[in-house]
Amino acid sequence: RTKGWNAEDDLYHYQGFWFHPTFLDGIMSAQDYFKAQPSDILICSTPRSGTTWLKALAFAIVTRNSFDDSTSPLLSKVPHDCVPFVEMDLSHGSSARDPEMPLLATHIPFSSLPKSVLESGCRIVYICRNSKDAFVSMFHFARRLEIQRNLEPLSLEEVFELFCEGKCHYGPQWDHVLGYWRASLERPEKILFLKYEEVKEDTGVYVKKLAEFIGCPFSPEEEETGAVEKIVKMCSFENLSNLEVNKTGKHREDTPVSIQNKVFFWKGKIGEWENHLTPEMAARLDRITEQKLGNSGLNLVRH
Ligand code: A3P
Repeated sequence: RTKGWNAEDDLYHYQGFWFHPTFLDGIMSAQDYFKAQPSDILICSTPRSGTTWLKALAFAIVTRNSFDDSTSPLLSKVPHDCVPFVEMDLSHGSSARDPEMPLLATHIPFSSLPKSVLESGCRIVYICRNSKDAFVSMFHFARRLEIQRNLEPLSLEEVFELFCEGKCHYGPQWDHVLGYWRASLERPEKILFLKYEEVKEDTGVYVKKLAEFIGCPFSPEEEETGAVEKIVKMCSFENLSNLEVNKTGKHREDTPVSIQNKVFFWKGKIGEWENHLTPEMAARLDRITEQKLGNSGLNLVRH
């Protein structure tokens, strides 16, 4: 157990990673309760790495023949309400799953995934983000939640120190990313490994890749009639963050972990860290990243 990012929430160490107790409880319970199906598509990530966006893109791809442009649930629900979260929604015996919906999401590290995930042979899509932007995004997310809960926030410097020591929700970030990276090299047909920056720079290409991996590729007719571009536009930061539901709605309303939807959207950019970290902080994170990733073949420093 160690001090967390505010005065109230300690973090707990389990199987090499740090967790908030509520999530850890869900993760442990999901080991028994969560039964993955071979047709499942599990969206995995560390927090603040593009999960909301990836959920929206995958949901839009899977449901594109069920809704037209004006009826997609993505226009009236935050993406987190469209894709169940394993450690919160599918633990403790609550397994209310829509049998038609193959998408699920989790932040559980690869090495701690419930056994049924690997046994079922279901597919995994992982998204990661450069450590500097992920850290800055996490800091601002935590800060907004602390304000919402009237908690005294820690300073950027204090939280930075904790992040460098790997002490953040589901951290160390590098170990989390490496677990999925190595697994994706071993089983590329089962694990698609994405980087936030690459998806941001060429979203259409990754929407097509994602659709193929999920098993619902775009037909030539769909491509000709702009189906890919429609999904890119509907799921763009500008579009999602400006929807009424994402400006004023709440996720998990009336529960102790209720969050205003607008907190899931902040800047949606590559390189925002430059406005928040000193050159020394940035260099330190780059150094740790290079040391941790070593010769794994993965580069998370580029941005
Ligand atoms: P910033 O805080 O840097 O803006 P997650 O969903 O894993 O928590 O990641 C959140 C990050 O993704 C936030 O980054 C958020 O603004 C950004 N994001 C949310 N929706 C997005 C979208 N549609 N396109 C690009 N980035 C998005």
